[in-house]
Amino acid sequence: MSGSALDTDILVIGSGISGLNAAVKSALAYPDRTITVVTKNTLLESNTAYAQGGIAVVTDLNHDTYEKHIEDTLVAGDGLSDRKIVEMVVTEGPKLVKEMVMMGVEFDREQSGEYQLGMEGAHSERRILHHQDTTGFEIQRVLVQQARKLPNIRLLEHHLAIDLITQHHFGEKVTRYREDTRCFGAYVLDLKTREIKTISAGATLLASGGVGQVYEMTTNPIVATGDGVAMAYRAKAWVRDMQFVQFHPTALYGVKQAGRAFLISEAVRGFGGILRTGDEEPFMDRYDERGSLASRDIVARAIDTEMKARGTDHVWLDCRSLDPTELATRFPMIVSTCRKHGINPTEQMIPVAPAAHYLCGGVETDEWGRTSIDRLYACGEVARTGLHGANRLASNSLLEGIVFADRCFQHLKEHEPFREPRESLPAWRSEGTTQPKEWVLISENRQEVQRLMNTYIGIVRSNERMNRALQRMKVIYEESEDLFRHTTVSPQLAELRNLINVAYLIIRQSMEQKENRGTFYNLDLE
Ligand code: SIN
Repeated sequence: MSGSALDTDILVIGSGISGLNAAVKSALAYPDRTITVVTKNTLLESNTAYAQGGIAVVTDLNHDTYEKHIEDTLVAGDGLSDRKIVEMVVTEGPKLVKEMVMMGVEFDREQSGEYQLGMEGAHSERRILHHQDTTGFEIQRVLVQQARKLPNIRLLEHHLAIDLITQHHFGEKVTRYREDTRCFGAYVLDLKTREIKTISAGATLLASGGVGQVYEMTTNPIVATGDGVAMAYRAKAWVRDMQFVQFHPTALYGVKQAGRAFLISEAVRGFGGILRTGDEEPFMDRYDERGSLASRDIVARAIDTEMKARGTDHVWLDCRSLDPTELATRFPMIVSTCRKHGINPTEQMIPVAPAAHYLCGGVETDEWGRTSIDRLYACGEVARTGLHGANRLASNSLLEGIVFADRCFQHLKEHEPFREPRESLPAWRSEGTTQPKEWVLISENRQEVQRLMNTYIGIVRSNERMNRALQRMKVIYEESEDLFRHTTVSPQLAELRNLINVAYLIIRQSMEQKENRGTFYNLDLE
């Protein structure tokens, strides 16, 4: 059913670290303006909430420097990061992290009161601020608290953004990138009433997170279906670097809960955990002098090689030499989850395998988070800012999230696009559509996309695998577009369409990538 129209000064799509940060800052700066946050689950369900490791940030200038963090980020990005953006994020981060601490976020401290700094792969210094192994949840908790306190933030939980509104919806043909494309807001499906709301906004901020659910094995929650990337792509925004999907080396093997694999944080290796084969060989030294703490792309590929060479579907993470009390204090959730699955990490090795974890590419933005569409901003995992290049440095994502949320806010504050009068928008057209008769068509297609991406577009790709994936994806695309044209929009169908768009972009941009860099590896380019 089509439904009501809402008006807002700023529309934020997504409720992770970037979306809520930008919303809270805007609401505080403009108490007489309305900020609307839409999120398709509850406010607490986002990729941010599952981030275990922490925030990489230079806090201790006696032992660390901005230059080192910049260099580590550039090296991890395998030459494809934008130096200017890297410098900006690394140097602006500390002040913004302090703001979060002022807001109430608690990071672990030593007895001396100094921050307890964690170590992760490819960092040359200890610099990860963390809250045990639930840093993301701690940040999310505080941001949600703040957002709920502000009366001018309208929180729409269980609302799924379906499409961004551009000139296209006024009847103009916007079939490719145009310089004058403008975003007027979004159509949003109320998941409880099934009403499609037309939200008119002075500015729209995409902060809808990642795409992990496009793969069968992912550390991302079930909500990470690439909605923002897909909507921006359909609205003809520039989307780049989709070939750079980061696989986390160590998801707990054989455990999938609510659609996601359980992560064993890289910080566990930073704490002394060692990767081993089944016969206990610490194989990482054969691949990189940094051993188990090499950058994530190298570790994930090495594990993949070992698994294929030995015909196994996992390797092992050995924490047996670590102090049991210290391990349980630093990683309570990881230790308890392992125990729940019958593994005592201080006596047994933990079976681990790589899983899709993070999209380094996404909707292209400039240094203010502006996309190629007027009045459409993007920040967080949905955005391709130039920070990560071909491979993201561990724990740089939350940092990027707060820096770009702040930059979007600063730009909005300087230009105040929401002060201009807003046009009335056409309602969503659902005439001629009916309820789907066979839900199995949708669920089967979703699983097919996920299997196909895992099999053909994983850590190691080849021309033949990519061609095959593209052919198969075209068929699934036709089937789902047909469903979309004739069926009333449901969350399942909207997500399926988004997953297909994202999968298509990953495959196409992989085919266009002519060099093996960072997370991208094509056997035929060897
Ligand atoms: C982890 O804890 O290993 C994940 C952190 C990140 O993705 O940077």
